[in-house]
Amino acid sequence: MRRLDFRSDTVTQPTPEMRAAMASAEVADDVLERDPTMDRLERRVAEMLGMEAALWVPTGCMANGIAMMVHLERGDRFLAPAAAHVLGSELGTAAWLAGGMPEALPWEAGPGKIAPLQVAKAIGNPGPYYVLKTKLLCLENTHNFAGGTCLNAREHRALVETAQARNLKIHLDGARIWHASATTGDSLADLAWGADTVSVCLSKGLGAPMGSVLSGSRDTIEKARRVRKMLGGGVRQGGVMAAAGLVALDYLPRIPEDHAKAQRLASGLRGMGFQVAEPETNILLVPVIDIPLSLQLMEDAGVRVLPVGSALRFITHRDLKADDIDEALIRIQPLFTQMLTTWEGNRPMV
Ligand SMILES: Cc1ncc(COP(=O)(O)O)c(C=O)c1O
Repeated sequence: MRRLDFRSDTVTQPTPEMRAAMASAEVADDVLERDPTMDRLERRVAEMLGMEAALWVPTGCMANGIAMMVHLERGDRFLAPAAAHVLGSELGTAAWLAGGMPEALPWEAGPGKIAPLQVAKAIGNPGPYYVLKTKLLCLENTHNFAGGTCLNAREHRALVETAQARNLKIHLDGARIWHASATTGDSLADLAWGADTVSVCLSKGLGAPMGSVLSGSRDTIEKARRVRKMLGGGVRQGGVMAAAGLVALDYLPRIPEDHAKAQRLASGLRGMGFQVAEPETNILLVPVIDIPLSLQLMEDAGVRVLPVGSALRFITHRDLKADDIDEALIRIQPLFTQMLTTWEGNRPMV
């Protein structure tokens, strides 16, 4: 039986165009000088985001880790929406490597979303030398574990302005900012507005085998380049990978196709009786009562998903065809009664 892989949008295979671009990439030692293909990719991403400069890194975790190391000093507090990737999914590197003291803000403005007033309250007023310093606001757009929910440019700007007014730095984990832009209709630059650093991923939804890009001011990116080297991320002829990243960016206009697949999946599952929120992007959370049992049933049916809290997470991507969605629905239909759903508010509990 052919497996239908909804575990992540990172499971995609590099396309023939990517492989060809990798094979013929012009490269040089990016530690000693600059690799021309990495340079081309970095310039392109910086321009798309309205930033001065950018730096290719192997992974999203490294991009976020470098940003935290650049912005934080030991013991500084940083704020992030609850269940943000930097809080719970990066093995504590924000604390371990960057020395940050995390504060998770509950989703008061909707799934995955925090409100400006909340940010202002969490920062509080400046105090004497013996109080904790809050130095950084981390945002995540789209918010993975909330089910791919988006901040639009207006919401993003209000949060950024609130933090800036209190002298915080802003890091945006924009691993799937492409998806937020496709849904909100706001430009990448508007969604990145005011951020001191933005990380984006080329390997999530776009199909590159690896690679993220951290953007910011020229000065910030020079610091980030040093930190990347400290972490062992000084990749020499990285243009081989950057070449795939450049091709991956060509997929951006097709992202709405993956959102349509998620919507089709959601409506099919709803038709069976599952309680599923309308997906804003390519991530769908399906609450179930018994996670281990449901995962086993799905695995046996050849539909691969991952658990997120009390839900199964489906992510649609370019390697799943529209027919694969119908096939998944056919396979899931007989399993429904054994996977009764749970529901809290308007979203599954995470
Ligand atoms: C929102 C978000 N940020 C960062 C990452 C980390 O990316 P990587 O797996 O490339 O380290 C992920 C991975 O799924 C993610 O979803």
